[in-house]
Amino acid sequence: MSKKPLVIGHRGAAGLEPENTLRSFRRALEIGVDLVELDVWLVDGEVIVFHDRELERLTNGTGLLVAQRLDALQNLKVRNSERIPLLTEVLDLIDQRCGVNIELKGPGVAEAVVQIAKRYVSERGWNNQNFLISSFDHTQLLRIAELQPALPLGVLLYGIPADLAACAEKLGAYSLHIALDFLNPELIRDAHARELICFVYTVNSKADYDRVVAMGADGFFTDYPDRFIDLKPGRS
Ligand code: G3P
Ligand code: MG
Repeated sequence: MSKKPLVIGHRGAAGLEPENTLRSFRRALEIGVDLVELDVWLVDGEVIVFHDRELERLTNGTGLLVAQRLDALQNLKVRNSERIPLLTEVLDLIDQRCGVNIELKGPGVAEAVVQIAKRYVSERGWNNQNFLISSFDHTQLLRIAELQPALPLGVLLYGIPADLAACAEKLGAYSLHIALDFLNPELIRDAHARELICFVYTVNSKADYDRVVAMGADGFFTDYPDRFIDLKPGRS
């Protein structure tokens, strides 16, 4: 029987609670995810947890996220109720109870994330393996590798490169994060041959879960971790 794939709470439990908020991460922890995924930007010198480049979809604010002052951002409401958290607030909540996949979104955030990770390792008893740093911007992953080579890297793809998983191996990554739209057995086989772990985003239905498991993925991101936490591969 194949191994149970890891369940990664996408933006916490984005289908159940306002995404990327403390409430969402609390819910994912209660469900018992293996990791949570969150998106980070550098805004006004702080690493904040938020997905979009602009404020309109998720908050009562307007305009570009990175143009805001921190105090103004923290007064906004996400989905009319929650606050935009700092990365450190989420790490304090998680407190090593599951892994944390930090997805670097905006420019220039890699340095600040490394500083925070180093602090949690040296002062709070975290291990580098509690973190997984990912990005579609592979130059920021290179920067992470330069600053702290012990941090595991996840290479995000939306598409299928001509040389398959070679870019992730070149970066010395731990994992390759593949879009469900481009799920492809060759890509997964190639990643595994290069000793890379394969995670797929974003799996919300049982039909997609079955496809992902059949292709041998090692884990998947989901907005609804409650739907999958007790599933075993091969069971309906
Ligand atoms: O990290 C997986 C997934 O979150 C990547 O896409 O846009 O949801 O951050 P996005
Ligand atoms: Mg993300």
